[in-house]
Amino acid sequence: MNFKIVTATILGLVALGQTAPTVYTSNATDADVEFSDDVVAWGNPTFPSIYHTCNDTDIRMIKSAFMDSLEVSAYARDRLLNYGADDLFFNRWFGNGSLTTVLGTLDHLVEASKDGMLLRCDDIDGLCAKNPTTYPGYHRATEDKETVICDLFYQTKKPLSSICFEGNLVDVHPKHYAGVDMLHRYLHVSMMNLNGYIAEFAEDLDEIVEYAHSNTTYAVRNVDSYLYYMADVYSSSVIEGGCLGKL
Ligand SMILES: *[C@@H]1O[C@H](CO)[C@@H](O)[C@H](O)[C@H]1NC(C)=O
Ligand SMILES: *[C@@H]1O[C@H](CO)[C@@H](O)[C@H](O)[C@H]1NC(C)=O
Ligand SMILES: *[C@@H]1O[C@H](CO)[C@@H](O)[C@H](O)[C@H]1NC(C)=O
Ligand SMILES: *[C@@H]1O[C@H](CO)[C@@H](O)[C@H](O)[C@H]1NC(C)=O
Repeated sequence: MNFKIVTATILGLVALGQTAPTVYTSNATDADVEFSDDVVAWGNPTFPSIYHTCNDTDIRMIKSAFMDSLEVSAYARDRLLNYGADDLFFNRWFGNGSLTTVLGTLDHLVEASKDGMLLRCDDIDGLCAKNPTTYPGYHRATEDKETVICDLFYQTKKPLSSICFEGNLVDVHPKHYAGVDMLHRYLHVSMMNLNGYIAEFAEDLDEIVEYAHSNTTYAVRNVDSYLYYMADVYSSSVIEGGCLGKL
């Protein structure tokens, strides 16, 4: 079997101070990921910078989540390009919503500039400590481009390779997977969610399914609809029959 190799160069760590940005150069290892020949990898994915408060172990796990985010979204893009809107998977999560909105949102999410976006591992606002069992991370209210990754992220989020292992998607939320959760975190940042155009309008599964039936204008703007779509397409692509569960 042939494999296409995509080399996604995760840029050196850029640390942004509160006032003057300081640039640290590093010889960060390029992260390589292999996709099956079935799916064309992203050409120019971009990533947030990782702040110097993340140690080597944190960085390795964050980069692993980056790679998973590329893989899961590449399967989704491939599905969109090859099957269009007249597709069981598309209809399940987006109804008769706009294909171009979904394609554009995905493309933007993965490949648009993430200049200034920062992931940090110090619990700067203390919310990891305050919510030790419920916060895998948080978007900083005072610094729109910054996301804090809590230790709970590393402890609980799973690699994409484990999809379907712990249960189906109806029972185990797509955010359980580090790569999907990472994409969801990007969408809390204004430059990624297009100033609120994409948002968490509906998070409850029943409501998400209902949007696909009767509110497709918002289904294609709803964060969780994207997360379920990606996880559903991915699991069905890599595991025969997938593991959606009963909606
Ligand atoms: C980074 O790589 C350059 C070029 O190979 C080398 O000159 C430099 O010493 C390296 N820096 C570190 C910190 O390893
Ligand atoms: C890296 O930081 C985490 C906390 O984010 C800590 O649990 C871990 O022990 C640290 N690892 C190293 C090698 O310092
Ligand atoms: C989508 O379906 C709804 C009802 O199922 C219909 O009212 C609407 O016109 C359709 N929209 C498009 C763009 O086809
Ligand atoms: C669709 O969802 C949005 C956001 O929740 C809501 O404001 C709007 O009223 C809904 N539209 C319909 C037709 O239900």
